[in-house]
Amino acid sequence: MKILSGNKKTKTAIFISGKGTNLKNLIKFSKLKNSPIKIELVISNNKYAKGLKHASQNKIKKKIFNFNNIYNGEKKSLKILLKKKIKLICLAGFMKILSKNFTKRFKGKIINIHPSLLPKFKGLNTHKRAIKNKEKFSGCTVHYVTSKLDSGKIILQKKVPIKKNDTVYSLQKRVLKEEYKIYPKAISKILN
Ligand code: GRF
Repeated sequence: MKILSGNKKTKTAIFISGKGTNLKNLIKFSKLKNSPIKIELVISNNKYAKGLKHASQNKIKKKIFNFNNIYNGEKKSLKILLKKKIKLICLAGFMKILSKNFTKRFKGKIINIHPSLLPKFKGLNTHKRAIKNKEKFSGCTVHYVTSKLDSGKIILQKKVPIKKNDTVYSLQKRVLKEEYKIYPKAISKILN
């Protein structure tokens, strides 16, 4: 599953839908001297995504495509991904499920971060469900993307203890801190 990057940095695209704090963090990571990636493109399905500002501020090309019809969104994305010779796609809060065709086309080259200890709590509202379920731990997972929601092979995972008085917000905040650590680590792991 390794994506050979050689001496050159791997041309990377980040897909977002919302706030983009992981995007911000990955941009910071990409600027480190020894970072294995260069972020060439940000794609969003949502023109109001706050995260788009991080692309603008860092002079990274951004594209907004309508993914209401997933195939149309993917078709437009594919064109620019090929043009820009993108070799790694990082989903960072991208709220659409990519098709079998698309995930196969980029097999082993699309990764995602999910705010739970997969395979537990796939999908939405992970923190709410973990608290409700009286779990002792939550956490985050970086995994390869297939067309099955949050189900591809796990690359890295980090546990975060759930405290007695945790709210969705407090837990989410602590998990996000770990997300910012494991996403770059997972990228380094698959590229080095
Ligand atoms: C993160 O919790 C990520 O794990 C999930 O969506 C959230 C995105 O947050 N997939 P942000 O847009 O990166 O701030």
